[in-house]
Formats: sequence, structure tokens, C-alpha cells
Amino acid sequence: PPYVVGFFVGSLARDSLNRRLSRALVRLAPEELQLQEIPIGDLPLYSYDYDADFPTVARDFKAAIAAVDAVLFVTPEYNRDIPGGLKNAIDWASRPYGKNSFARKPSAVIGASPGKIGTAVAQQNLRSILSYCNSPQMNAPEAYIQATPGMISVEGDIGDESLEEFLRSWMDDFRLFIQRVLTVLPQATK
Ligand code: FNR
Repeated sequence: PPYVVGFFVGSLARDSLNRRLSRALVRLAPEELQLQEIPIGDLPLYSYDYDADFPTVARDFKAAIAAVDAVLFVTPEYNRDIPGGLKNAIDWASRPYGKNSFARKPSAVIGASPGKIGTAVAQQNLRSILSYCNSPQMNAPEAYIQATPGMISVEGDIGDESLEEFLRSWMDDFRLFIQRVLTVLPQATK
């Protein structure tokens, strides 16, 4: 069946490498996956003072996650961790207590960096966060993309055939993972 996947871009930068990667993934996704961005850039900094009465922007954010079958994190590594803006968004989604938007929601993590280890440390930290948030994660294949700025165009065209093939098959593995999780936990996500 078709699945709706909400994706988060961890970077707020105008010409983000990871935004380019997300556009490539939209282009390469199997037709059974419908990708839509869930923006994180307008959320205020989270505090539990908001828990009693979330602002509209945060309610809309949680509703957007509730509406999708699975979530995909496309994130850079900043100082060996995920960017603060993405962590802030995850904190919003995880609260108020008992209303964690990620519980039983299948997820996958991918990221690009010019550096050789391709966001591996940030991804590992993100996996720890998602474990705590009780999101079933696709453990493998992992996707650490070492990318130069020219490797993926602004529109998400990939100039490297082996990278394109890898991303295509990675998205297909994510499709199979979502299918498996939702077969076991059909009530999971909505
Ligand atoms: C970086 N960069 C970086 N790269 C990396 O591989 N590991 C790291 O820990 C960091 N740390 C880091 C901190 C900060 C504050 C910035 C701005 C950058 C480089 C980073 O990979 C590069 O700028 C990418 O272009 C970031 O991805 P986006 O934001 O363009 O998607």
C-alpha cells in the first residue's frame, strides 16, 4: 500500500546540503512512498512551561507527525551532534508527557556532510534519542553520505550514479521496513 512519510531537514541553511539530499530522496523514492516535509524552522525554543497549552505552531507540528505513517530524518552533523533546531523540534514532538508523537512511529535516519564520516556521530546520537522516544528504527542499511556541494544539485539531481543507486535502494529498504512494522503494529501510527 502507499505510505506517507514525513521528513525533517535538520538544517535551516538556505543552501543546505541536506535539503538538497532531501530533494534527491523525494525524486528517488519508490512510488509506494509519498514524501512530504514537516518543517521545523518556525518552532520557538521548547520549554515544559508550554505543556499545559501548546502554541498553534507546535500543535500543527504534532498534528503533521500524527498524520504520517513514518518519519525520515535528513540531517547534518553540527559539532558531532544533530543541529539544535532539530533537537528542539524533537523535544516539542515528544511532549506533553504521554503524548509523544514518535511512539511506535517507524523512522529512518540519513545525512550528508563534506566530511569523511558523513554525519555518523550525529546519526548515532539521533538513534539514541529515537530509541528513548520509542520509535522503531530502520537499523540497516546505514546511510552516511560524504558529499561535496556539487554532488547533488539544488533541485536534487545526483551527479554520481553509484550514489543515486544507493539512495534508491536505501529508500526501497525503508519502504519494506515501514511495511514490516505496520504489519506487526497496524495501530501504530495514526
Ligand atoms: C559543521 N560541519 C560539520 N561536519 C561534520 O562532518 N561534523 C561536524 O561535527 C560538523 N560540525 C559543524 C558545526 C557547525 C556549526 C557547522 C555550521 C558546520 C560542516 C557541515 O557538515 C557542513 O557545513 C554541511 O554543509 C552542513 O549541512 P547543511 O547544513 O548544509 O545541510
